[in-house]
Amino acid sequence: MQPLEIKNDIFWVGAVDYDTRDFHGYAQVSEGTSYNAYLIKDTKNVLFDSVSASFTGAMLCRLAKALPLEKVDYIVCNHLELDHAGALAELAARCKPEKIFCSQMGVKSMQGYFDCTDWPVQAVKNGESLNIGSRTIQFFETRMLHWPDSMVSYIPEDKLLISNDAFGQNIASTVRYADEVSEEYLLNAVEAYYYNIVLPFSPQVTDALKALGGLDIDLIAPDHGLMYRGKQSTRYILDAYARLAAQKPQKRALIIYDSMWHSTEKMAYAVASGLEDVGVPSRVMSLKRNHHSQVMTELARCGAVLAGSPTHNNGILPAMAAMLTYMKGLRPKNRVGGAFGSYGWSGEGPKIIHEWLASMDMEMPALFVKTQWTPRHESFGQSHALGKTVGQALVAKCGA
Ligand code: FEO
Repeated sequence: MQPLEIKNDIFWVGAVDYDTRDFHGYAQVSEGTSYNAYLIKDTKNVLFDSVSASFTGAMLCRLAKALPLEKVDYIVCNHLELDHAGALAELAARCKPEKIFCSQMGVKSMQGYFDCTDWPVQAVKNGESLNIGSRTIQFFETRMLHWPDSMVSYIPEDKLLISNDAFGQNIASTVRYADEVSEEYLLNAVEAYYYNIVLPFSPQVTDALKALGGLDIDLIAPDHGLMYRGKQSTRYILDAYARLAAQKPQKRALIIYDSMWHSTEKMAYAVASGLEDVGVPSRVMSLKRNHHSQVMTELARCGAVLAGSPTHNNGILPAMAAMLTYMKGLRPKNRVGGAFGSYGWSGEGPKIIHEWLASMDMEMPALFVKTQWTPRHESFGQSHALGKTVGQALVAKCGA
């Protein structure tokens, strides 16, 4: 359990959580995550962020190998969510820092989580600088990226951006740099993280990229997953965020469904066939077999969403209701939508889904399709036509 020196006298002192599969109670993470914390040794020794509470011991062990705990002078809390502040009370008690810095909104979350009236807390303003000896720390607020208290810390002398949640990925590994894994693996992790956590704050991402655009950066050190070192790697993640934030339509469709007796399932495959006929690739995802966070990750590559559920108790099946609630909260933009589903008696399901998708400002080029009992020739044709119409609208939206 060693600290890793990432620049001269700058160390990674975080912890890797290989066991978690449930990120913050809402997103599935297939291999765990990491909680990254960083130490700068200078005239003033500064610790940036901490770890989830259950990893306090691991972090303290790693930190103590780089520096005796009582020699930590300052703690910077870029964000107070408990995956980064879970060890803060223990650190405050053991390090007895001269100062604990956070944003003005961070003071509120710190007071909310901790009995911190005796802590030497100092709020910093956007753009404020702190001299720590041979280095300077510049603080930039990144409000709502992804909490009101979020900020990042930039150290110009080292061209280092400690970016907190921004640019992270849920990767648990013994490697620490993004250039040590394949680009496909990295991109999937970046998209999964962005589409399940950052997506609603895409306007703030665009603003942050502008604000940070003038900085000379050759190491981006996020609080989850791998670091980006060198111009090529840092450019890669900055460009990826610009692309993800823009949500430019992509010629690929996502078909999600739940089914009771396979009728809506058969309609889903007929919808896929209609999309195929107009040259739009798609992926069919059963909500029984795919977690809502996997569906959102797939949406990163799709410009259209077609959703189907049978009617159940005059509504829709609970997995679809949960999916649409989750998706709407994440505020996807620039999508084309379509709704379908089977029914036995009352038949409200597809209309409810249509209204959900329309409420996410999706372009809805066709009326919903509903099939009573089981799909036969005519309703297969209607489902196929729905896929075609949505596919054509997507192709037009993509400008191809
Ligand atoms: Fe990684 Fe918002 O905590």
